[in-house]
Amino acid sequence: NGSGKLAGKRVVITAGPTREPIDPVRYISNHSSGKMGYALAVAARDAGARVILLSGPVNLPPPTGVEVRDVLTAEDLLQASSQAVDEGCDLFIATAAVADYRPRSLAGDKIKKSTETMELPLVRNPDTLATIAGRPDAPFTVGFAAETTDVADYAKDKLQRKKLRMIVANDVSVPGLGFNSDSNAVTVFWPEGQETLGPDTKTVIATRLVALIGDHLRQEEHE
Ligand code: PMT
Repeated sequence: NGSGKLAGKRVVITAGPTREPIDPVRYISNHSSGKMGYALAVAARDAGARVILLSGPVNLPPPTGVEVRDVLTAEDLLQASSQAVDEGCDLFIATAAVADYRPRSLAGDKIKKSTETMELPLVRNPDTLATIAGRPDAPFTVGFAAETTDVADYAKDKLQRKKLRMIVANDVSVPGLGFNSDSNAVTVFWPEGQETLGPDTKTVIATRLVALIGDHLRQEEHE
């Protein structure tokens, strides 16, 4: 689509959960299905972009016309994102639900059941979104914010702190929306405004988000 809102743009999208290994058979993860990120990849492709989709472990078929690169851990995601941005990127969209912490060490053998309680030391993972947005050659960067309380306040805080152009706030406390469902409702914030989209299917939300992001991207190029 040479006349689409993202015609000729190079877009990198992160999607799905990360998986942080504890031992050879166990891991820490979350309920992200990848549906929101995959829908965005398809919408960006249909808007004329060349899309690289950095995907955590999900059960979705790779969309045609999109380059999918598989990642597992938060550290993998940072590495793959940095590489994809090095290759050239106009727009970076972070939809992935990244584990904030990982086990401090990976047990070589399966951990045996023993005491009544056990503690698992965790360490902070790198923040891909903040790292990409903080680069001197940062692309137009869009984050997501999944919250269960004070959604708008936390989203606006992340917009500023992580130096984002736009943030998509997702209230994941509403049953049937957000994680792992086919529908979503979001409010998009940018420094001077906001717009609410949905509730609607993730396909519809993705198409409207791509149109909105495309308008802002173009506006910035003409400033
Ligand atoms: O995958 P689905 O089932 O379709 O569900 C979609 C979704 C609910 C996962 C998605 O819409 C969503 O809200 N994704 C962000 C989830 C999240 O973990 O948000 P957060 O508030 O923890 O992170 C904020 C932003 O920083 C996100 O853009 C996230 O990708 C990014 N991040 C966070 C931590 C980290 N270490 N690296 C990051 O890049």
